[in-house]
Amino acid sequence: MGVIETYRTWLPVGPATPEVSLGEGGTPLLRARRLSEELGLDLRLKLEGANPTGSFKDRGMVVAVAKALEAGATTLVCASTGNTAASAAAYAARAGLRAVVLTPAGATADAKRAQARATGARVVELRGTFDDALRLCRELAAEPGYALVNSVNPHRLEGQKTVAFELAEALGVMPDVVALPFGGGGNTCAVAKGFEELGEVPRLVAGEAAERATTWASAIRIGEPAHAAEVSALVRGGRVEVVTLDEAEIRSAWLELARLEGVFCEPASAASLAALRRVELSPGALVVCILTGHGLKDTGAVPDAGVTPVEPTLDAVLEAIA
Ligand code: F0G
Repeated sequence: MGVIETYRTWLPVGPATPEVSLGEGGTPLLRARRLSEELGLDLRLKLEGANPTGSFKDRGMVVAVAKALEAGATTLVCASTGNTAASAAAYAARAGLRAVVLTPAGATADAKRAQARATGARVVELRGTFDDALRLCRELAAEPGYALVNSVNPHRLEGQKTVAFELAEALGVMPDVVALPFGGGGNTCAVAKGFEELGEVPRLVAGEAAERATTWASAIRIGEPAHAAEVSALVRGGRVEVVTLDEAEIRSAWLELARLEGVFCEPASAASLAALRRVELSPGALVVCILTGHGLKDTGAVPDAGVTPVEPTLDAVLEAIA
């Protein structure tokens, strides 16, 4: 149905706001049976990779693009580590708008750039960082007809807050804890806002990479978070706890999700589970991990087994799996 149609009264949309949905939102919430047992929690996984372009970005992008179209924009522009680019490109195509995306060269997953190119975006790879890309996009956005659709666009956060509504609705109660990755911090602010609007904020735990500028989790390879000040204010207000994770913690959480639950998310998404492992939690607590993106986004992260082909005989196959 799409987040605008479902949550219309909670969003800054009106009768003149165009319809550009790709069917985002309404993502599965799974019980994590084996991880719950291991951690002594009631752990649930919110599979945001099930969104149309494979990440949570679609929730915010649909609102940002609808509003840009309503305002008469002709070109969407964004900086991205990949997912925002794929999402902006898809919604631009849907809306009949041009999309220009700036990505740090050699630092984004292939599938994400392929998504953006397939849907017709102009993908510009910069000899620079995500932070350089965002700075340039802010400048580009001054061009006539251009709309910036990074999460510094408040409409993005409005759409992204809807994950809080879905969680409250699906669980029937407020979860005790919600964990998510922290890159630029837009999603942390959006999730906090969503729960605030519901009148009750669970404990929010945000996992960031210690090696921000170089982390293996390329989606959150961001040196200077655009929402650093807002996240700090949330931390000071006791609304959010930020956990700084090393690379091995993110990687092992990512493998655990895949191997204990069959949930293949992208590396950055696993910062949520890794962060949970580092905080004190009451036994049996109802905890949600927001898994922000699909594992198919970044198959290059999967260790290569170095498999060599075998002869098509039963003996050879039995030997190969021994
Ligand atoms: N998880 C995934 C899969 C992401 O793609 C991102 C951000 C985050 C988490 C962090 O969210 O920035 O709101 O704290 N990706 C952006 C992009 C930077 O360009 O796709 P945040």
